[in-house]
Amino acid sequence: MKTPIILINFKIYDETSGEKGLELSRVCQKVSEKSGVNISIAPQMVDLSYISEKVSIPVFSQHVDNLKPGSGTGKTTLESIKKSKASGTLINHSENRMKLADIESIVDRCKEMDLVSVVCTNNISVSKAAAMFDPTFVAVEPPELIGGEISVTDADPDIVKNTVKQIRDISSRVKVLCGAGIKNGEDVKKAIELGAEGVLLASGVTKAKNPLEILEDLANGVINE
Ligand code: G3P
Repeated sequence: MKTPIILINFKIYDETSGEKGLELSRVCQKVSEKSGVNISIAPQMVDLSYISEKVSIPVFSQHVDNLKPGSGTGKTTLESIKKSKASGTLINHSENRMKLADIESIVDRCKEMDLVSVVCTNNISVSKAAAMFDPTFVAVEPPELIGGEISVTDADPDIVKNTVKQIRDISSRVKVLCGAGIKNGEDVKKAIELGAEGVLLASGVTKAKNPLEILEDLANGVINE
């Protein structure tokens, strides 16, 4: 997976469901193609397959359950994600926390199935624990800043810098993303300066009046770094 990456989580915002989700996905693709920056998306779960088939940028699942295909009403398997043509999955998002043992098992199975794993974490200790499982990415997001106006890169730059530092001591392979309150290119630039290999964001794009303009600015944060 090319880095730096700008990963847009569509969450369950009304602005990202159904046709509106597809439209936003196409805007992400347009900006990615024009800028050369990896802009990836995590559409709403019910739209995963539908959107995956219609865009060429990397598509992620917002969540996966540690289950094999079979009984498990309302759950999602890695096998289904793979069949939907998604590139990977978020794991343990702050809004959908998981047990440590399940996170480890999912990361292992992502490797077997050639899927990109993005383990979300809330602080440095949990980031270190997640890094031990050797996922593709650890995405650190202080929960209290999620959906807020102040970017993690301004409110708590140390959590980004120190997560990168501590994870480097564990593995040179695991890449670090940061998220919460990221809104513009300047925030992306700061994240990269702090050692992150990209950002995970939602409301800055999903709630924007003009997502195209915001996405172009975010991509410029990578280009101007
Ligand atoms: O998954 C990204 C997220 O939790 C951050 O959300 O709205 O602060 O960009 P937001």
